[in-house]
Amino acid sequence: MVDIVADYLSGLPQRAVFQPYPAEQARALATEPIPTGGAPVDAVLKDFVERVAPYPFGNGHPRFYAWVNSPPHPLGVFAEALAAAMNPSVAGGNHAAVHIEHQVVRWFADLAGFGDESMGLLTSGGSMATLTALTVARHRAARRADIDVRADGLQGHARRFLLYLGTEGHGSARKAAELLGIGSANVRTIASNDGHRLRPDALRDQIVRDRANGHIPVAVMASAGTVNTGAIDPLDAIADVCAEHGVWLHVDGSYGAPAVLLLDEHRATKTALARVDSLAMDPHKWLYAPVDAGLVLVRDRHLARDAFSLVPPYLRTDDDPDGVSGPVWFSEYGFDQTRPFRALKVWLLLKHLGTTGYRDLIAHDIATANRLASGVRAAPDLQLLANGLSVVCFRCRPVDCAGDDQALDELNREVLNAVQLGGRAFLAGTTVNGAFALRACVVNPGSSAADADAVLAEVRATLSRLGGGQPR
Ligand SMILES: Cc1ncc(COP(=O)(O)O)c(C=O)c1O
Repeated sequence: MVDIVADYLSGLPQRAVFQPYPAEQARALATEPIPTGGAPVDAVLKDFVERVAPYPFGNGHPRFYAWVNSPPHPLGVFAEALAAAMNPSVAGGNHAAVHIEHQVVRWFADLAGFGDESMGLLTSGGSMATLTALTVARHRAARRADIDVRADGLQGHARRFLLYLGTEGHGSARKAAELLGIGSANVRTIASNDGHRLRPDALRDQIVRDRANGHIPVAVMASAGTVNTGAIDPLDAIADVCAEHGVWLHVDGSYGAPAVLLLDEHRATKTALARVDSLAMDPHKWLYAPVDAGLVLVRDRHLARDAFSLVPPYLRTDDDPDGVSGPVWFSEYGFDQTRPFRALKVWLLLKHLGTTGYRDLIAHDIATANRLASGVRAAPDLQLLANGLSVVCFRCRPVDCAGDDQALDELNREVLNAVQLGGRAFLAGTTVNGAFALRACVVNPGSSAADADAVLAEVRATLSRLGGGQPR
């Protein structure tokens, strides 16, 4: 298996970035019956090598710039095996994995300015981190309104619970609003400024109006690095608004938090993090840990426990932190009971790279994205639409473009589709100010300036192949 892993990782750059899974193989998988007799390990692994390994979604390849999908650091790959070998449940207990997770959480809490009264845990990802944080926010808002949300849910009272989100805020917050009974119709979308950053003045106006109408503002979710454009919201000004009105401030740093916490140019944002109530970040994004690893920090540990703890007597624990049950259990601060040893890969990577090593890798990714952005600026048939952190959004805009916006969108969709299927580069699509855009997000230190140039060359070659570059 070590050889298979090594071949896979070292062979990635020579392969197509992406190729769709062959239809006949997909049909074969869909109809293959459950194995009854079993097979030798070698035969099973051969099947993996032939039918699984050749068809990744592209991440890890140096010219894959889609979504926020980093390659795993090799140490993280093998950390997964070590964690699986131990296979503890990190619900709680006085065993190594629990203490390692506490240490990892404390390291990030220290970096982000969350004090000793804070609590955190590793989650399956940014969506679960945000759901966890907003559960605590809802608990606080309900308690202040004399509603026992754990007993009654949100039933039986007329007031509306509201969540505030920037136009660029991640969709996971809307999903969380639905799951928490707030409802997506009660998510207020707050306008952004020209830089795609949430406008604190618009937020303030909306909260004032809502409170005057008797509604209950549960939380504001701001972003430290939006998925679309890499924009960082003005956290300090937003924290002022939240403090004025006693509203919980959650920051989604799923993508951008590592850059904010480690790079000097984001020091002001980092300082503002010391004022927020909760933070989501994803080691499986810009800290190169294999999926899955999210992290949530909550400033008020007591509130977090009140929102989640449901402990049957046989599991109640904090009588003796040095005994069998150890420190207060993670399962009292989140939804999951049995929890994997996610912390090991994050811990090993932090110990191996240190914050300095991480800073260099993240700075490298940003430099590669900047190279891409300059290439876009210099190309007469490309137009830069947004550039924040390591995200670059652009579109093809042929010289003397005669087409309308719709035709331009259509042309860019065609280019993107052809690039994705071409196997030489991979970008994602999005919209920026209503225009369809090609979106690159560089979270791969193995990607070089030459790769960035090659990706742009591929886009431009595809554009000229498709109808001479003019929108139809
Ligand atoms: C800014 C942002 N927030 C939240 C998420 C959701 O994180 P996850 O996919 O780990 O649940 C993402 C995922 O790309 C993201 O980029």
